[in-house]
Amino acid sequence: MRTPLLILAVVGVVCRSPSLAAQAPVEQRITALIAQMTLAEKLGQLNLPTWNPGANPSQADLVRRGLVGGFLNLDGADATRDMQKIAVEQSRLHIPLLFGQDVIHGYRTTFPIPLGEASAWDPELAEATAKFAAREARAAGLNWTFAPMVDIARDPRWGRIAEGSGEDPYLGSALAVARVRGFQQYILATVKHFAAYGGAEAGREYNTVDMSERTLREVYLPPYKAAVDAGVGSVMSAFNEIGGVPSSANPWLTNTVLRGEWRFRGFVVSDWTSVAELVAHGIAASPSEAGRLALAAGVDMDMVAAIYVDSLPALVGSGRIPMAQVDEAVRRILREKFRLRLFDDPYRAMPPVEPDKALARRAAQESIVLLKNDGGLLPIAATAKTIAVIGPLAADTVNPLGPWSGKSRPSDVVSVLAGIKERAGAGVTVLTAPGTGVTDGDTSGIAAAVAMAQQADLTILVVGEADTMSGEASSRSALGLPGAQEQLERAIIATGKPVVLVLMSGRPLVLSWSAEHVPAILETWFLGDETGHAIADVLFGDVNPSGRLPVTFPRSVGQIPIYYAQKNTGRPAAPGQHFTSKYLDIANTPLYPFGFGLSYTTFAYSGLKVASARLRPSDTLVVSVTVANTGARAGTDVAQLYIHDAVGSVTRPLRQLKGFQRVELAAGATKTVELRVPVQQLGFWNQAMRYVVEPGTFHVYVGSSSTADLMGTFEVVGRP
Ligand code: GLC
Repeated sequence: MRTPLLILAVVGVVCRSPSLAAQAPVEQRITALIAQMTLAEKLGQLNLPTWNPGANPSQADLVRRGLVGGFLNLDGADATRDMQKIAVEQSRLHIPLLFGQDVIHGYRTTFPIPLGEASAWDPELAEATAKFAAREARAAGLNWTFAPMVDIARDPRWGRIAEGSGEDPYLGSALAVARVRGFQQYILATVKHFAAYGGAEAGREYNTVDMSERTLREVYLPPYKAAVDAGVGSVMSAFNEIGGVPSSANPWLTNTVLRGEWRFRGFVVSDWTSVAELVAHGIAASPSEAGRLALAAGVDMDMVAAIYVDSLPALVGSGRIPMAQVDEAVRRILREKFRLRLFDDPYRAMPPVEPDKALARRAAQESIVLLKNDGGLLPIAATAKTIAVIGPLAADTVNPLGPWSGKSRPSDVVSVLAGIKERAGAGVTVLTAPGTGVTDGDTSGIAAAVAMAQQADLTILVVGEADTMSGEASSRSALGLPGAQEQLERAIIATGKPVVLVLMSGRPLVLSWSAEHVPAILETWFLGDETGHAIADVLFGDVNPSGRLPVTFPRSVGQIPIYYAQKNTGRPAAPGQHFTSKYLDIANTPLYPFGFGLSYTTFAYSGLKVASARLRPSDTLVVSVTVANTGARAGTDVAQLYIHDAVGSVTRPLRQLKGFQRVELAAGATKTVELRVPVQQLGFWNQAMRYVVEPGTFHVYVGSSSTADLMGTFEVVGRP
C-alpha cells in the first residue's frame, strides 16, 4: 500500500525541520521516518550482526547503506562513537545504532554470578549491581544489555542455571524487576530467554521443553511478565521449542501472551541464530521460510542470522510477507531508540567510572551460603595459628569470575588464598598447595597436600567447578566435584584434622559425602572480583553469612527434577507405607532445601498472626511474626512466607513462596515482621485455563526456609 501523498507532504515538512521533528510526538516521528524508508532500510533496522572487523563487505559499508539496526559485541567509547557517526552522518536517514552486549553480572567490575547473587534474597542489592554494571557499560559506549536472564531452573544439570535466579517464580520475579530497574537507569535491558529455556528435558542444553500450559504460566512465565511490568524494553526469544513450537516462531507466546495479555510495547530480538535454527527444528524448509515464520510470530530483530536483511526482501516483494508486519517491527525498534534518546543525542558519552569494590565485596559477602557448621568450627578460632589453604581453586583468579564474565580481568580478582593471607595477619602461618587440578584428575599432588593439612591447625579446602562447566552449552550429567577433587577431599578429611569446605560452582552440586564427613561447608558460587575478601570476611567472622539457597540441593542426580514446590500426589510418602510416592533407595527430601542457609547465630520464629482470618480476593493477606536472634552475635535472616491452597479445582503445590524480608537483628533482639500478600496473587489457572482465586482454606508458613513449620490458617471467601 503506498503512503498517500498528503501524508508524505506533511511528513516531509516535519522531518526536514529538525526543531519541528524533535518536538513531534515519538510515534509521529517514527511514522514520518518509516514513510521515507526503502524496504532494504526497513529490514536493515531488523538486522543485528555481531561485530566482525574482517567482514566483507565491511560492516561500516552496510551501516552506510542503512542495512544494520545495531551491533552486538562492538564496544569501547571510541569504536562505538566512530560507528555511530557513520550511521548518523553517512547513511541516508541518519538512524542511530544500538550497541548490545552480554553484561550479565558486571561489565568490568565483576559481581557474583546471578544464581549466587540470588542467594542474597536482596532486590535492593541486585538493582544496585545491575545499575553499576550498566553505568560501566554505558561509559564503554554500550546502550543495551542482553540481561537479566530470568529463566526458572529446576534441574541443576542445566549449565545456565548459573545465570538465573533459581527455581522459584516469586524470588525470580522480584530479582527480575530489580535488575531491569537497575540496568535501565543507563541502558536498554533485555529479559531472556523467552520462554522456559530452563525447562530443557534431562537438563540437556537446548533440549526440548514440554510442559503443561498451567506449569508454563504458573512457574516459568512470571519472571518475564514481572520484567515486562517493570518496563523492560526488549525481550529475547529462546532457542528451545515448547510442546512442538520453537519459541522464536511462536505467535501464541509472543503475540498472544507477551503483546496481547501483557501489553508489551518493546521489541523482541532473536537469540543468536535462533531464527536460522527453525530449519534444524524442522518447522521451516529454508532460511527465508524461517525468517517469514519468525517475523510473523513477532520476532522483530534477527540476531546474527542475517536472514531478515538478506532473504525477506523477496518475500515482501512477492506479498508473502505483508509490509505492515515489517513496518510494525521497525516501529518497535525505533521506539526503543527514541526512548534511549539516540536520535536527539546519538553521541552522548559518559565518562568512565571507578570500579566499585565495596559494592562487589558486599554482593559477594551476601551471596555466600553457610550449609554446615558442626561444632561451631567457623568462624576461624584465634587459636588457629597455622592455616592450610588447599585446593585447585585456592589461588585461582580466573574461575571465580564465573561464566559470562564480560570484560572482567583476573588481575582484578582477589583469590581465596590472598584474602585469607591478608585477613589472617602476621601471627598466622598460611600454607598452600593445589593438591590437584580442577578437572585434570592429577593425583600426584595429593600426598603433599595431605602432609600440609597434617601440619596445620585448620584446613580450608577450596574446590569446585571450572567457570566453563556452567553457563551456555555446559550441562553436566553428574554433579560431583570434577577431576580428582573428591579424592583430594577424602584424603584431607582422612587426616582427622578440622576442615572447612569452600565450594565454587555455577549450580547445586551433589554433596552427600561431604555433608556427612566435612564439619563446615560454604557454598560460594562464583563471587567475582571480591571473592577472596568476602570469603575471608565470612571465614574469620567479620561478616555473619546470610545467604539462603535460591535452588534445591539434591541428595542424588536420581532425584532430579527436585524442587520445594512439590505436589502431594494421591499417595504421599508415609512412614511404613509401601505403596506411596517414594524411592526404594533414597529419601524424597533434598540434601539442602530451597531457602536454607545457616548463620553464626540462631533465629527463632513465634507468634504467627494472620490479621484477618477471612479474606476476599481483593484483600491483602497480612501476616505478622516475631523473629528472635537467640544467639550470641548479630545476624541477618531471611523471613520467608509460603502458602498452601489446601483444596483447589486443580492440584496445588504444598508450598509456594509469596513473600520474604531480610531481617537484621542484634544478639538477643526480637522484631515483629509483617509480610503482606495481595490475595489476588494466591490464584492459579483453573481447568478452563482462567486465572482464578478460589474460595477455601489456605495455610501460611513463615520461617527461615521452605521447610518452615510455624503455621497459620485463613479462608478466602467470595466468588472466584
Ligand atoms: C547466546 C546466548 C544469549 C546471548 C546471545 C548473545 O547464544 O544464548 O543469552 O545473549 O547469544 O551473546
